[in-house]
Amino acid sequence: PLPPAYTVPLPVPNILRPVAPGRYEITQRVAEIEVLPGIRTPMWTYDGTFPGPTIESRRGRPVTVTHRNELPVPTVVHLHGGRTPAASDGYPTDLVLPPGWADHHAMPDPRAVRSVGTREYTFPLDQRPALLWYHDHRMDFTAPALWRGLAGLHIVRDDAEEALGLPSGSRELPLVLTDRAFAADGTLDYPSIDATLRHRPGVRESFLGGVLGDVILVNGAPWPVHEADAARYRLRLLNASNARHYELEAVTDDGRRLPLVQVGADQGLLAAPVTHVSVPIAPAERYDVVVDFAGVPVGGRVRLLNKLGTGRTAEVMAFRIARRAADDSRVPPVLSADLPSWGPPSRVREFAFSAGQQAGGHGWVIGGRAFDPARTDVTVRLGDVEVWRLVADVHHPVHLHLAAFRVLSRGGRAPLPHDGGLKDTISLRPGEAAEIVTRFDGYRGRYLFHCHNAEHEDMGMMANLEVV
Ligand code: C2O
Ligand code: CU
Repeated sequence: PLPPAYTVPLPVPNILRPVAPGRYEITQRVAEIEVLPGIRTPMWTYDGTFPGPTIESRRGRPVTVTHRNELPVPTVVHLHGGRTPAASDGYPTDLVLPPGWADHHAMPDPRAVRSVGTREYTFPLDQRPALLWYHDHRMDFTAPALWRGLAGLHIVRDDAEEALGLPSGSRELPLVLTDRAFAADGTLDYPSIDATLRHRPGVRESFLGGVLGDVILVNGAPWPVHEADAARYRLRLLNASNARHYELEAVTDDGRRLPLVQVGADQGLLAAPVTHVSVPIAPAERYDVVVDFAGVPVGGRVRLLNKLGTGRTAEVMAFRIARRAADDSRVPPVLSADLPSWGPPSRVREFAFSAGQQAGGHGWVIGGRAFDPARTDVTVRLGDVEVWRLVADVHHPVHLHLAAFRVLSRGGRAPLPHDGGLKDTISLRPGEAAEIVTRFDGYRGRYLFHCHNAEHEDMGMMANLEVV
């Protein structure tokens, strides 16, 4: 029994309180969550909610998060978009084992650092303000763990961004987009080969391309509605879906498309705003957009629609304009002046993302090879500027840990209007080659790059990046 669209109020994930300045604790546990009204769905959660609690941090102020694993399987936490020392980056074999877990499931990785019960992650957050997110990253099992609910937001802020006058307070809304499928009894439906997620990874063969759900959730609620002022709102969009792409537009009752003024990308503010009619958003990407409801009559509605969906998956959420209101927010013509401009690259590399063989079966590969934690795929020098040419057979949202990048070109042409700013995930389109440029700043150690279609990631489409 799915609810009619735009009846469930939009929840906003609660802000996690520190246990001491800069120190947080999160318990990973099974909880029964009311996702569909009146139905309890068992989920894997951070602190009993889906999405997990939001951590709010200030640029350059380090934060430690102690995760306690009370789930029946090992977990790993990765702060997506974080500039994080390798020891806290959530490498897929750095498992937090549930107490009593027999380690005979160990991955062949001599460098893995196991913890039992709890693990403390340290995040320096010496980086531009941005909407980051934390999620599970366990080798071979990331996709089902995400699907069961292991995802939450981590917002980094600073004074310069706050001084801009962008919409704030209740007019700044994080919107976490996910799709899910439910069985008749209200449990989550996912085509795992081994539903315990203890032994065998993988999904049934017809789901190799990725798992889609038929229920669209925003902040964990199905097709929600939010009562809004007739004013500007800053929407901080994250696509936390396993495999679904969205192309969002904001449509009024009389069919007008409200401009979506993009102010930020994955890794924070753009240099200047860019106005879009619709915004494409691939798994793991973030878009920071301002939309103005001032011209919408009180009682009217603005729906966020997904142009790539059909039927109910084309509907996402709605704003019901409840009242006129004063608005002193603004979108200044210059947003940020600290975007790096990197010098000429010392290397150009190419990586092909394609279907291939993994563990003797069908999977996904980078440069012909499936992920192996014991192999170093790329070695880069700390501080080096490199250009990477990424080539895709089908859609692959490619994510690089540690280093923010810029999109230089797509298909030999200039980047698209939504490619601006600093990114950590680029949505490669079928048959496309794109070039990105980055500087490997921050920390030495073992990092990753991978496809963020979570099923592709689990089926081999990940590689090791060693920063030396
Ligand atoms: Cu959002 Cu390596 O992940
Ligand atoms: Cu992929």
